[in-house]
Amino acid sequence: MSEASQYDATHARWRRDPEAYWADWAEAARGIDWDRAPQRIFDASMGVYGRWFPDAALNTCHNAVDRHVAAGRGQQIAIIYDSPMTGQVQRITYAELQNRVAKLAGALAARGVGKGDRVVIYMPMVPEAAIAMLATARLGAVHSVVFGGFAAAELASRIADAKPKAIISASCGLEPGRVVKYKPLIDEAIALSPHKPSSVLILQRPQAPCEMIAGRDEDLLVAEAAATPAACVSVAATDPLYILYTSGTTGQPKGILRDNGGHAVALHHSMELVYGMKPGDVYWAASDVGWVVGHSYIVYAPLLAGCTTVLFEGKPVGTPDPGTFWRVCADHGVKLLFTAPTAIRAIKKEDPEGVFLKKYDLSKLEALYLAGERCDPDTIIWSERLLQKPVIDHWWQTETGWTITGNFRGLGLFPTRAGSGGKPAPGYDVVVLDEAGQPVPRGQIGSLAVKLPLPPSALPTLYNADERFKEAYLSHFAGYYSTADAGMIDAEGYVSVMSRTDDIINVAGHRLSTGAMEEVLAAHPDVAECAVVGVRDTLKGQVPLGLVVVKSGVNKPEDTLARELIGLVREKIGPVAAFKDAKVVARLPKTRSGKILRATMRKIADAEPYTVPPTIDDPAILDEIAIVLKGAMR
Ligand code: COA
Ligand code: AMP
Repeated sequence: MSEASQYDATHARWRRDPEAYWADWAEAARGIDWDRAPQRIFDASMGVYGRWFPDAALNTCHNAVDRHVAAGRGQQIAIIYDSPMTGQVQRITYAELQNRVAKLAGALAARGVGKGDRVVIYMPMVPEAAIAMLATARLGAVHSVVFGGFAAAELASRIADAKPKAIISASCGLEPGRVVKYKPLIDEAIALSPHKPSSVLILQRPQAPCEMIAGRDEDLLVAEAAATPAACVSVAATDPLYILYTSGTTGQPKGILRDNGGHAVALHHSMELVYGMKPGDVYWAASDVGWVVGHSYIVYAPLLAGCTTVLFEGKPVGTPDPGTFWRVCADHGVKLLFTAPTAIRAIKKEDPEGVFLKKYDLSKLEALYLAGERCDPDTIIWSERLLQKPVIDHWWQTETGWTITGNFRGLGLFPTRAGSGGKPAPGYDVVVLDEAGQPVPRGQIGSLAVKLPLPPSALPTLYNADERFKEAYLSHFAGYYSTADAGMIDAEGYVSVMSRTDDIINVAGHRLSTGAMEEVLAAHPDVAECAVVGVRDTLKGQVPLGLVVVKSGVNKPEDTLARELIGLVREKIGPVAAFKDAKVVARLPKTRSGKILRATMRKIADAEPYTVPPTIDDPAILDEIAIVLKGAMR
């Protein structure tokens, strides 16, 4: 612990009196405008495990936009859109943002969207994505953003579950070397879903304008221009702000629910405490609005804190070169960059000596924060060496919406430790438990769990699925939220997150379910049974590998079958699954009762030590599978 760090004292202060801690951060003087200030901070009797700020009311869009204009910062830049994909840079002030958001909210209201209604947003990285989110929040409606790399079927399952009144989308997204036409995907998704939205607003992009369906589809910019601006609608702090679907252990995605009040308080607090940012600072989360990092740190947190946020449409490499991230930092005076380790690994691979990095003036950049997947120490050490700035790994989940562990610039950094995600943020009591729910000694691996209640911003439940929420997160260890991550806490309190304990894999910082991929493979007529395992990959962290046993009598060449399976996963889940490899195997390793030994295969694929389970029916199969898995590692 460095002398200057206030971490220990602050975490202890939170632990002594969590309600006093959050009451302090919820004070209007700290920067949250309430329509009704909270009198009660936490009500343990409400909801599944309690609710934060149960009697308060506010509007999140007001706090992210209007509040700053009212405070005289209307001319400050709110969003810098930097798109190497289109060669565009656009700067939007808070006043302009307020105007556009109010108009789009008016357009939505005119189409029947009101408080509590859902709006699905399926957008590339353009300013209209953030404007659509804020416009929905302005009306007290609930957005559900779907990542552009998902296929029509995934979009359809989200439309079916969220039952949106409206969909906001664009005619296309831009990937290096290809234009992704969104409109056919939207049309197909709406056709597949039993629920049909009454209105679809489309941003026509010049790269691939689309045909409109009369009576349903409208041009977003035309609708926005013609609308009467809508005012902010006051909602209860406990009302939902958004649903973000994330991979569960089955093909059915889980709707992570985020409320308004707890979210605003925790995110606003995190900008100061975690990242050490002040109003007017330029903050860049190089992620996508379709992921939680994009929700929290491209849109809401920087705007709640009155910062300038960078919305980047491009890749870390190839758009046009591995210097892009550093060019964006230099051009816009970025003070803090937040991205996934994969992005840094991609840059490191193409520019190991930092030749591109050295072309740019990075004097304004103060720190690099990484999250989304386990970060290998090499990547931290490499970036620290080249940047000569603190590089901080912090541990996150869609479920929490902000960091569980990290290092806190607002408190003075304590020494970082490569391989560890830092120490628990105030708000989190993190423990390591064994299978029986007993704490394990420091330094030993077990299941990472968080003592209830979860802090503000963490999910109060799953959308329309309290029972699933309890079963998925609260049933493993009484009184604790199970993170489904395995890891350890060392003697000084540093937390290391090693791997998932379920079938979620992290591919290039994208969270995917191997169970969902297995459902797709199993539907192929030639497949008798299958398993999808995340194998170690030096760039993407993990990549999925399909292991399939074919039905007897099938003698299709392996590469033909593999091509079909790859095509099927791309069609049903989307390109983001990065499913590029399938192998035919004679058998899968199983227990004597016929259960496929997925956990053991996961360990082999992660190059972790494993023991041959005593219940295995034929140990030789495990050896055969180990050869296949090791052969697929890169
Ligand atoms: N819309 C449509 N397709 C998309 C997409 C989107 N928004 N995002 C990704 N895809 C596609 C890609 O084009 C690629 O398609 P392909 O199979 O035809 O090549 C596929 O999905 C897999 O994408 P990805 O895993 O991202 O690999 P990549 O090779 O395109 O890029 C990196 C590799 C490292 C550059 C990229 O993964 C990256 O920038 N990672 C950082 C991750 C990140 O920001 N995560 C957010 C959490 S913090
Ligand atoms: P997501 O919900 O997409 O943010 O993914 C959450 C999961 O990503 C976590 O449960 C972890 O498995 C993994 N993850 C996120 N950040 C880290 C980190 N800093 N270190 C290790 N794993 C991480």
